[in-house]
Amino acid sequence: MDDATLAALIGQRRTGFTLPRAFYTDPAIFERDLEHIFMRQWLFAGHISQIAQPGDYRLYQLADESLILLHGSDGVIRAFFNVCRHRGSRICRDEAGQAHRLVCPYHAWVYDDTGALIQARHMPEGFERGAYGLQPVQVQVVEGLIFVCAAADPPPFGQIAGDIARFFGPYQLAETRVAHVERHLVAANWKVVAENFFECYHCSHTHPEFCSVMSYGRAPDSPRASRERAAFVAEWHAQAQASGWPTGGVDMTEDSIHTLARTPIRPGYLTQSEGGGPVAPLLGRLTGYDGAVTAVQCYPVNWLLACSDHAMLARFTPRDPTHTELMLTWLVQRDARPGHDYDPLAVSWLWRVTAIEDATICEDNQRGVTSRRYVPGPYASSESSVEHLIAWYLRQIAPAAPAGQAAQSDADAPSGIREPR
Ligand code: FES
Ligand SMILES: [Fe+2]
Repeated sequence: MDDATLAALIGQRRTGFTLPRAFYTDPAIFERDLEHIFMRQWLFAGHISQIAQPGDYRLYQLADESLILLHGSDGVIRAFFNVCRHRGSRICRDEAGQAHRLVCPYHAWVYDDTGALIQARHMPEGFERGAYGLQPVQVQVVEGLIFVCAAADPPPFGQIAGDIARFFGPYQLAETRVAHVERHLVAANWKVVAENFFECYHCSHTHPEFCSVMSYGRAPDSPRASRERAAFVAEWHAQAQASGWPTGGVDMTEDSIHTLARTPIRPGYLTQSEGGGPVAPLLGRLTGYDGAVTAVQCYPVNWLLACSDHAMLARFTPRDPTHTELMLTWLVQRDARPGHDYDPLAVSWLWRVTAIEDATICEDNQRGVTSRRYVPGPYASSESSVEHLIAWYLRQIAPAAPAGQAAQSDADAPSGIREPR
């Protein structure tokens, strides 16, 4: 798609309305999304326990790219494009494994665990092995959470790392193990999925389980429930502040693309479980079940949360213009034993059932936006975070403005912060 066509399509979009159909269906726009967003932004890729030992590797399939996350013998977590520097073969085939050296299955070029080429048979005189290392991907690990960025010059990560460390530190997520993983291939464009997960306008009538746990789920539909929620939150914050652990949240700014909130669940609920009772041993340095959930949402597709006894890490990965992989990973304290200290299905209950409901909603939404009769519709006031997301999205993919023409201002865009879902 040429710049003029894309600019015209972006120009068609009315502020406060959903996107024109092409943004949810067109392969050329999907390609632009990959180049301008997914190859440039920091993305949550996995948890440190999934490559716990030196030599452990795991693949992260991002649309048509395959990335290798590898725990080096020096303890450093690195990532590479899964592309041989000889003739381009995929190197690792298995989704996870153990390898101190990466051997290409085609002509057996060998790379060490820093990505350097260490063996290449029958190459001509003068061949410089040093020039043929694997293409690196940037890695940051914060609180055991592995983020990757495919850009050679990645955007700053310090602010999000600092906020995650400050709000999630007491949970000690690096000292956890995976309790359960759910994976769904959703037949919807990644923006349909992201829009859904960035608003809770749909929660009151599509997520009965969620609303039974989080008291703000139905609060917007009832002035009384709204008042009760506000009073409960204020009381909880007043008590929680005494612990010295930050409460409240971090709003999105001009320079950041994440929002974070630490808020209570519901009166009488200690954790996000069916009925609110504990479902696993306490995490980290916690000395009691505090009834709170801490959640961080990072543009464009990551959403990570923790309660007193478990964490849930959501990763939405575009696969093609009309398919998105949902991967949800639950963590519990590292020494907790399945069947003894926790039941994986009890730990994962809330977001497992909610994600399935969301997958259905998203697939219905995709079918609708694909219709010849689809026209963009207006967001509700409680969908302001979706408007914020879409405005950000359009700025990322927009062709560069001609010299002298100011970029569209975001000054009037609504805040991206809200309660964690
Ligand atoms: S393509 Fe990898 S060794 Fe030839
Ligand atoms: Fe939902």
